[in-house]
Amino acid sequence: MATILAIESSCDETSASICKDGKILSNIIATQAVHEKYGGVVPELASRAHQQNIIPVVVEAILAAKVSKKDIEAVAFTRGPGLLGSLLVGTSFAKGFALALNVPLIEINHMHAHILAHFIDDPKPAFPFLCLTVSGGHTQIILVKDYFDIEIVGETTDDAAGEAFDKTAKILGLPYPGGPLVDKQARLGNPHAFNFPEPQIPGLNFSFSGLKTSILYFVRDHKKLDPDFVQNNMTDICASVQYRIVTILLNKLKKAAKQYNISHVAIAGGVSANSGLRDLLTETAAKENWQIYIPAFEYCTDNAAMIAIAGYYKYIHGDFVGQDVSPLARMDF
Ligand code: KG4
Ligand code: ZN
Repeated sequence: MATILAIESSCDETSASICKDGKILSNIIATQAVHEKYGGVVPELASRAHQQNIIPVVVEAILAAKVSKKDIEAVAFTRGPGLLGSLLVGTSFAKGFALALNVPLIEINHMHAHILAHFIDDPKPAFPFLCLTVSGGHTQIILVKDYFDIEIVGETTDDAAGEAFDKTAKILGLPYPGGPLVDKQARLGNPHAFNFPEPQIPGLNFSFSGLKTSILYFVRDHKKLDPDFVQNNMTDICASVQYRIVTILLNKLKKAAKQYNISHVAIAGGVSANSGLRDLLTETAAKENWQIYIPAFEYCTDNAAMIAIAGYYKYIHGDFVGQDVSPLARMDF
């Protein structure tokens, strides 16, 4: 039983959460608008924004949870993977806070936390289950045997699904982060208006770089004939690209479910907020007889509540790290 403060600062969201005995009491997220005009996250600007945001975000998380600083019994933080300068802000803060309160430190792998976000609310998945983790930097199918016993059974060999969304948006002239904007446009369009090819990758791995190239050439060729092609067909292009990305994901997930004979299927990470993915997963579940787990929107994209819940399960096991811990830009499970 414990009250845990959790810190997330791996990319461009500064977030803090308080969790008591496995229940989330607060989840405060400061999003950094500074990157919008650059068409992507600028690492140096992200670190500076984390530095500015971290104390107000933590103070707000403590206030919103109606606890006091002295109630905190452990500090969990994202050690990696992510942008090193961003991770350094959260890690240094967590270390300082834990040292001042003389409480243990818990390191968390960000991608692992995306999966464990399914244990915040009910219904919680039963082990073993398959989790498709789709974010800006990762696309993996994970066999989750227990909280901390997981196996990557498929992953992207090049771009991540989130990157495919963001790069599509960039080609279409939409601002960063493009994923949610492509999703919004796609809802109004025809997913079968244009046909983008499905890559033939063996096994359970993914590839999205060919799709990006085909979108680039498709737009270039059509613009030669009609300079306003993109503006006039925005919703149909977005719907068709989104349809292809989510069918690539779902086809591999179906293959994995058959191969491992598992019918409990979850999605996690920023792209799990995508309406096309959620709809197709729900449709597939009805056909395949799957039990599916879709996280609440606030726990799809980066947040500290998922770090807190992962921290809670590590706390129970007494899995702590020392003050000599340092962040890792690349971090395996
Ligand atoms: O998990 P996340 O917040 O950060 C990383 O750990 O990378 O994921 C961010 C990614 C971005 O690529 C963003 O465009 C994508 O998730 N994303 C979406 C949607 N919401 C966020 N992609 C498609 N549709 C959405 N609704
Ligand atoms: Zn993430």
